[in-house]
Amino acid sequence: MLTWDHLEAACKACRKCALWETRTNVVFGVGRRDAEVLFVGEGPGENEDKQGLPFVGRAGELLTDMLRMIDLDRDRDVYIANIVKCRPPHNRDPLNTEQEACMDWLRYQYRLIRPKIVVCLGRIAAMAMIKPDFKITQEHGKWFDKDGVKFMAIYHPAALLRDLSRRPETFVDLKNLQAMIRQVCSNTPLKEETK
Ligand code: URA
Repeated sequence: MLTWDHLEAACKACRKCALWETRTNVVFGVGRRDAEVLFVGEGPGENEDKQGLPFVGRAGELLTDMLRMIDLDRDRDVYIANIVKCRPPHNRDPLNTEQEACMDWLRYQYRLIRPKIVVCLGRIAAMAMIKPDFKITQEHGKWFDKDGVKFMAIYHPAALLRDLSRRPETFVDLKNLQAMIRQVCSNTPLKEETK
């Protein structure tokens, strides 16, 4: 039986692609290991690489605020991981070969967590998790069902830092997520809707 401890140790020793040569830390993931809601980003940036934790830079602060907006606590209520666990140099997009080499770690995490809802943060995560031709501008906020698990993508918080005009539609997507959590989740605490 694969355990979290085995998985984390093996992941942190990974040399399956060349990104191990330039990484400071492997960014495995954080949060509740039996979370019903899994958030998946693209890959670590500079701050994440330094600290070994996902979404701890400016985009991460925004993600924390976005979660708070729908009464979710990033450590207590959800799990946060990335498609690639090591920082691509100069924050370039992860190559397909790097994503393929790394995806098994996320597959194992997914199997251990058994989420009911997966939220992809940005295009790269949506293409890897939902479908290769995912169009973020047209398909953000839409639900996709995969073997009974609900998948949705929202704009990446880094994109929302660059382009404020996308924030209102992301707020709608977050409220849509909150409604779905209320519908399908049992152990994700959300405050009661105020009337
Ligand atoms: N962007 C991501 O996609 N993941 C992180 O962990 C940080 C920034």
